[in-house]
Amino acid sequence: MKSLSIIKREHRNLNAVLFTLERLVLEIEEHNKAIDFVIMHGIVYYLDSFLDRFHHPKETDYLFPAIENHCPDARPVLDLLGQQHAQGERLLVKLLKTLSAYEFLGPAGFGPFRDAATEYVEFERQHAYKEEKEVLPLAEKHLTQSEWDHIDAAFADNQDPIFGERPQTEFRELFKTLGCLIPAPYGLGPELKSN
Ligand SMILES: [Fe+2]
Ligand SMILES: [Fe+2]
Repeated sequence: MKSLSIIKREHRNLNAVLFTLERLVLEIEEHNKAIDFVIMHGIVYYLDSFLDRFHHPKETDYLFPAIENHCPDARPVLDLLGQQHAQGERLLVKLLKTLSAYEFLGPAGFGPFRDAATEYVEFERQHAYKEEKEVLPLAEKHLTQSEWDHIDAAFADNQDPIFGERPQTEFRELFKTLGCLIPAPYGLGPELKSN
């Protein structure tokens, strides 16, 4: 069941990246901060090269079929989550296009970029939440040891270029930005006040 904790850890890391994207957009909008296009492209590149190339395909190819074997009633939610993997990729392409237009047009391009970023963040957040609430508990309850061994082997070779064991040097600046923005105690940013 090692892959279960890998998936949860990858969701936490994804949430940290989504939170950072949201904060950076907010700082541009509310504090007139200049956009750092290198960091923004780094975020998009990370989401494409890790989330859409490693995390989601492993869920679709290994985890979801094993759950469906034991729980045929879960098929609608598993199908929906599989479709969301494809939809998430489309939203990321939209985000990249609006980022590119923003870079070319200047401030006139901010609105569409902000909207695409907000849509993407909300979508991926809800997606991971749905998996954690509705699908991972089924896997925990029903999968056999040999099924877990099979899934564990698939997830073990996931190479996260930011949070993995061998972070890529290209992501160093992005990692620093993440560390500064993510609230304490997980990052170095100011603690979020609870209501
Ligand atoms: Fe997923
Ligand atoms: Fe996931």
